[in-house]
Amino acid sequence: MSDDEKERTVELHYEGGTLTLPVFTGTEGERTIELKTLLGSTGMTTLDPGFGNTASCSSKITYIDGAAGILRYRGYPIQDLAVGSSFLEVAYLVIYGELPEPGQLKEFSDKLRENADIPDDMGTFIDAMPRNGHPMSLVASAVNTLAAYYDDSVDPDDENQVELATIRLMAKLPTIAARIYRNSIGEQPIAPDPSLDYVENFTRMTFGDARPDGELGELFGKAVDLLLILHADHELNCSTATVRVVGSSQADIFASIASGVNALSGPSHGGANQAVLEMLDEIRDSGVSIEDFLERVKNREVRLMGFGHRVYKNFDPRSKEIKGLATQILDRDDNPDELFELALKLEAAALADSYFTERKLYPNVDFYTGVIYRAMGFPTNMFTVLFALGRLPGWIAHYREQLHDPAFRIARPRQHYIGANERRYPGQG
Ligand code: CMC
Repeated sequence: MSDDEKERTVELHYEGGTLTLPVFTGTEGERTIELKTLLGSTGMTTLDPGFGNTASCSSKITYIDGAAGILRYRGYPIQDLAVGSSFLEVAYLVIYGELPEPGQLKEFSDKLRENADIPDDMGTFIDAMPRNGHPMSLVASAVNTLAAYYDDSVDPDDENQVELATIRLMAKLPTIAARIYRNSIGEQPIAPDPSLDYVENFTRMTFGDARPDGELGELFGKAVDLLLILHADHELNCSTATVRVVGSSQADIFASIASGVNALSGPSHGGANQAVLEMLDEIRDSGVSIEDFLERVKNREVRLMGFGHRVYKNFDPRSKEIKGLATQILDRDDNPDELFELALKLEAAALADSYFTERKLYPNVDFYTGVIYRAMGFPTNMFTVLFALGRLPGWIAHYREQLHDPAFRIARPRQHYIGANERRYPGQG
């Protein structure tokens, strides 16, 4: 075997022989062993809890280098997009693969404005759901029913239908989220205003006249836009993997994305932004010292929410951007934010402690987002809904990419069976 061939293959030696497996090199030099022939040739499967070592697909959407703290959408560094682009431009980039020309952006934005309304009976359906239920559960249910209200855009094999559903999802999710919020505070819904841009429209539908205006209003609008950009995609995270798995059964895009919303709701994933705020509230209200709280973490009584990441083992580049934003909004001499100050102290104490540094646990995207959302007036249980609004383009892009993947198959992992061997049924002699 030549050196070149050795580079492109690995050999697996097992009791029955040797299997040569191809090695693919990605555009960033990442190497992946293809296991397609493993089971057929050796009768063996692989066991990889949490899929920590498993690439389940090839993708062109997002690149992460967890050790170097790099995150790029379609090749563009997140820091550049954060400075130079709006959320809508980033959503277009993530979904369609290129930054939009001005005409393309206008067309995209116009379509979203035209489609922002929801049908009256869907509004009635949302209003009938429990008003004190968790908004993530209500949002997932509402997204799921879009398939019933718009059954002319549910065929994954029809590109026009998938495109129509893409526009509908992007256009209607802010309307749905804002209505659910207003129901929870006992206020009338506010209809979308086609004269406003995407983020402005969302904050107006959410807060109505109560949203701040002037300089502060502008800063809050920019902050929401930036937070949505930073959440727009994150390759094969739990909710995106869920969207792909559900979509792999040929389920429609609404059903697949509703499943993504549900996956996102868990506290180990998107629900962490809510959990961080609850943790900070608890530390403040109980009067426990930061040192004592960290002792509880180290004794495994609780997790330090907003810390740690499966992929980032150095720092999460999103958290750097978000901390900067939080500092801009909350670190004001005239009115310091108590929870932000507590979060800063907690971060500093954790990063000075070998328990966290040895395990490469750093603040993730969720550590500072909650304090910003709270300062804007969002209730804690809406934080993960904001994450969902941001992640929507990513979910859509992955669903669409999968439809065109030549290697596409229904997702169907194997298991390592450790249960009982065949047993005699009671009464059978
Ligand atoms: N607090 C205390 N210890 C932790 C934490 C934490 N937040 N995260 C990981 N560890 C420890 C863990 O106990 C383990 O220690 P040991 O090796 O001694 O058993 C070690 O660090 C490795 O952790 P792991 O659980 O194997 O790591 P994972 O990759 O399976 O989990 C995670 C990643 C994000 C679920 C986890 O770090 C966590 O639960 N963090 C808190 C929740 C959170 O902030 N989630 C948001 C993630 S980023 C945004 C998103 O995905 O939505």
